[in-house]
Amino acid sequence: MGTNARVGYEAWLRYEAMEEGDLREAYGQRCSSIMASGSSKVLSTAARELAIAVRSLTGRTPVIASAPDQRGAGIVIGVRGKLDPETERAVASDLDGLGDEGYVLRTLPGGAGETGRIAIVGGTEAGALYGVFHFIRLMQTREPIDNLHLVEQPANGLRMINQWDNMDGSIERGYAGKSIFYRNDGFVEDFARIRDYARLLASTGINAISINNVNVHREETKLITPEYQQTLSEAAEVFGAYGIKLYLSINFASPIAVGGLATADPLEPSVREWWAERAADLYRSIPDFGGFLVKADSEFRPGPFTYGRDHADGANMLAEALEPHGGVVIWRCFVYNCLQDWRDRSTDRAKAAYDHFMPLDGRFADNVILQIKNGPMDFQVREPVSPLFGGLSKTNQMLELQITQEYTGQQKHVCYLVPLWKEVLDFDTHAAGKGSTVAKIASGALHNRPFGGIAAVSNIGDDDCWTGHPLAQANLYGYGRLTWNPSLPVDRITRDWIRQSLGCDPQVEQAVTDILHRSWGIYESYTSPLGVGWMVNPNHHYGPNVDGYEYSKWGTYHFADRSGIGVDRTIGTGTGYAGQYHQPWRETYNSEELCPDELLLFFHHVPYTHILKSGKTVIQHIYDTHFEGAEEAAELLGAWRTLEGKVEEGYFALVSSRLAEQREHAKEWRDVINTYFYRKSGIADRQGRLIY
Ligand code: GCU
Repeated sequence: MGTNARVGYEAWLRYEAMEEGDLREAYGQRCSSIMASGSSKVLSTAARELAIAVRSLTGRTPVIASAPDQRGAGIVIGVRGKLDPETERAVASDLDGLGDEGYVLRTLPGGAGETGRIAIVGGTEAGALYGVFHFIRLMQTREPIDNLHLVEQPANGLRMINQWDNMDGSIERGYAGKSIFYRNDGFVEDFARIRDYARLLASTGINAISINNVNVHREETKLITPEYQQTLSEAAEVFGAYGIKLYLSINFASPIAVGGLATADPLEPSVREWWAERAADLYRSIPDFGGFLVKADSEFRPGPFTYGRDHADGANMLAEALEPHGGVVIWRCFVYNCLQDWRDRSTDRAKAAYDHFMPLDGRFADNVILQIKNGPMDFQVREPVSPLFGGLSKTNQMLELQITQEYTGQQKHVCYLVPLWKEVLDFDTHAAGKGSTVAKIASGALHNRPFGGIAAVSNIGDDDCWTGHPLAQANLYGYGRLTWNPSLPVDRITRDWIRQSLGCDPQVEQAVTDILHRSWGIYESYTSPLGVGWMVNPNHHYGPNVDGYEYSKWGTYHFADRSGIGVDRTIGTGTGYAGQYHQPWRETYNSEELCPDELLLFFHHVPYTHILKSGKTVIQHIYDTHFEGAEEAAELLGAWRTLEGKVEEGYFALVSSRLAEQREHAKEWRDVINTYFYRKSGIADRQGRLIY
């Protein structure tokens, strides 16, 4: 646990003492004793977490009881089938059909005139822990607990975080300091911070974590060898106590790099044996190890293509090694030609994932899951949803999101991504008729798949507040909540995060809600217009550079010339990408008239004078959004400043300084983009504002 001196360290598990009054009394009284039915590691975690929260919030130290309170009061935390008979009987009807990670929260009737106990019962001990964190959230958000009766179940089996941490302590696309896992080509010595991270994650429902970068470099390749097994098992213990399984990103060429073999050909028996042995070894020291995450044949990573094999061959080999132990292979679909010639207009990076993986649908083993980025390009501010979700039907799938703000302001700008993710999850692919949403496909529900879920690239580092920008904590939190329940409304997530992190002052809630809810739109408006993307500085991806990627090998072009801009991805005259969608999307995206404005330049090359649905020309839209966006960015700082004295001083100052930086940087974006397009098009701003 952090101290208040570390700004924002406690994040949403901040238990500020409640205001005196009836509610505080009631919480304190209800929670006067805590009894865990069982002594497993996760149940002990649950009881301890609840005790900490109750003590801090109510000022009352609960008794940790070993038997249910005779008067029938207090909290009972337990697991189905292992409860005291009275509690088991009382919640029996709720337990029918409850999944392993689900839980029941129920206030039971007391004896004559007495308050009854509150039962927090999980399908497994992990379920009980989620129930406890839910219960704590109710108190943090000042909800009544007198008549609880709710049954919760996660929508997704896998609710995963991907760390892109390297063992030298750096983090690929990290904007919040150094790794909390590694330093100087080894693990950190003290795992206390990792434990604090585990509890934050578990409290939002996360149950899986891969702890090294998908780009697996030299030292990281050794993580699967005996050299690291002791340390890894310690890390797995830390996460295991919070119900989180450990995964590793692996290097496909490991048999050569660390195994002394001459090949990594997935069909070669000695290679298969080598992987089987590695897997068996890992499971000996980490019995609940999750499995492997793989980036292969992508951005210079080795893969099966080297041996003339395909991705099903590669993934199935690893699946075979993990299968006897119950492990899974998570195989990424971020596969494309990153050595493209910008002169070649026929190759379209957006088509790559679909083109690579659709022909393999049905060929993957049952314990392989394909991890698909939300968009067909790469986590831009605005992209259509990847058509691969609607395509695959005989393969386990997982949605990949990016919490770390690589292209969305790098945690210097505020950009609340929950609304973006909601759009993705709610997108109806029409794969099996209406209602075939990405949420249902990813969870496995639509095609009745054994595995599914959501993964996202973490945004944390060793910064005091974890995320560089304190408001970026809302993205990590919101991500976790959405993995548990993709139907949760954005408002609800925002409200909970604010109350849990910043307290229940309505003025704070209103101002911060407003800042968060406007932030993605504002960021989009002063950066890339109409879905075009990629107008950033190469490599680090921060700040405006309209032609930064225009003549590069990465397949990321906007084709702006003196008369127009955008990528023709239509079926008739373009790359044909629009044809990867089911109806009605195929027709909608394919048509200049039907295509939504915000994606117009993703699908079409149009003149600057093209009239949008909004009634504006494309060029005027660019000018207007950039002027307005920069102004609105400045307003965010103003809105935050009204909270001086209502938010802890260090936190207030840190957010203020970030918002001031955003305000200045938004002007830079505005001026670079507007000037570029004014010079290209020669068309003046109708409002005659200053363009350079
Ligand atoms: C992006 C990102 C890389 C990352 C890659 C991936 O291209 O810039 O840093 O390695 O995605 O997802 O594998």
